[in-house]
Amino acid sequence: MSEGSNTVGDIIVASHSGPLAGEVIVPGAKNSVLKLMAATLLADGRYLLTNAPVIVDVDIMADLLTAVGLRITFHPAPAGEVGQHIEIVNSGAITPVAPFELADRIRASVNLVGPLLGRCGEIDIALPGGDDFGGRPIDMHLRGLEAMGATFDVTADGIIGRASRLQGADIDFDFPSVGATENIVMAAVVASGVTTIRNAAREPEIVDLCNMLRKMGCRIEGIGTSTLIVTGVEHATLQSVTHEVVTDRVQAATYVAAVAMCGGTVHVARAVAEHMGMMLSRFTDMGIAFDISPDGITATAPDRLTAINVATLPYPGVATDYKPLIVAMLSVAQGVGIVTENLYPGRFRYVEELSKLGADITIDGHHASVRGVEHLVGAPVVAPDIRAGAALVVAGLAASGSTEIGDVFHIDRGYDDIVGRLASLGASITRKRLTA
Ligand code: EPU
Repeated sequence: MSEGSNTVGDIIVASHSGPLAGEVIVPGAKNSVLKLMAATLLADGRYLLTNAPVIVDVDIMADLLTAVGLRITFHPAPAGEVGQHIEIVNSGAITPVAPFELADRIRASVNLVGPLLGRCGEIDIALPGGDDFGGRPIDMHLRGLEAMGATFDVTADGIIGRASRLQGADIDFDFPSVGATENIVMAAVVASGVTTIRNAAREPEIVDLCNMLRKMGCRIEGIGTSTLIVTGVEHATLQSVTHEVVTDRVQAATYVAAVAMCGGTVHVARAVAEHMGMMLSRFTDMGIAFDISPDGITATAPDRLTAINVATLPYPGVATDYKPLIVAMLSVAQGVGIVTENLYPGRFRYVEELSKLGADITIDGHHASVRGVEHLVGAPVVAPDIRAGAALVVAGLAASGSTEIGDVFHIDRGYDDIVGRLASLGASITRKRLTA
């Protein structure tokens, strides 16, 4: 799949559904696989990433890595697995210049900066794109790398960075940035000396990246904590590996939200409850019953959801990526819920779309006050970004009549066959190609 071939004109038609039943198998996480792909720049050899999601952002990252010199082949997952296998061959012939038009399309392109500077001593890349939630600066990435000896020329469009050999440093983050933590770790594993990152992010996807780097021979301590200690090694001592991508907790939560809004009982296979602890606890407060097993989680909807107040926070708090789902659920819950966004002040753009379905939501700064209504009513809406698009799909299933969701290409960036998976649970949902 590629964004060019797609999808730009496609719509998803979600019609009133429920109760849902059955099992959905969740593939690997977008926000892990993209960083694992970037990490293969660090050492020569043949890598295999299994349980990888089939999503457009993976295609864009593959194009970026191909442009800098890696060879990438996609293989369908063998029977019994989901997603795809990504085979990556790093022959060592790397040109650290990333085409602007590709880097500009995804946020994770910034994750090339750390490994390319560490490996090649230079980088020329566009400023990262991705979802528009207002300003998304990369000052913490650059300050951390500067502390390690890199210098940068930053223009309105791009970044040119240089470093002879990066040196270990003590880095204290003001905020546990996911991307900055990943970038500094990927630079530090091949730097000279020890790098200590304090107030590091500790999302499950960062743990996944650190675990793969460790398998490659990198020396990282404190994995999963907010202090990471990385001892650099020569990149030639590292080796390529096979690694299974951690399950996508946001896709998992999306299927929980679907059953919560449509009714029924659904098994979300491969969901890792431990990675979703705070979210599951808040879902429980809303009335959803969970049965947790090593194989995943089974969610049973209440007759009607109960409103809660919730604030987004870095892991282990409730992730900002869950928020559009929570707002959609609150829009049909009993009572009033206040949702506070602490990461991206501009991440409420989808509220206008939910309101078209009859949701009663008031925004005040970074708070949304959601007064639950008895029923949403289907209407044409537009997906403003990945997670908001998924929330509109789920809301459409709970609304009476039919909801047409446009700009589906946003959803394709992060969701692996959301239509097929929801349809397999009994949802009334299709995808249509609009022709001019
Ligand atoms: N920030 C700065 N300076 C920096 C870096 C971050 O001010 O140098 C601020 C950001 O502007 C934002 C906050 O810190 O307000 C959090 O940013 P963070 O760096 O943690 O996020 P990210 O790495 O840019 C990743 C995910 C996002 C997810 C966030 C938070 C990827 C590719 N993206 O972004 O995922 O919302 O972490 O968990 O991993 C999505 O998947 O839909 C998505 C947007």
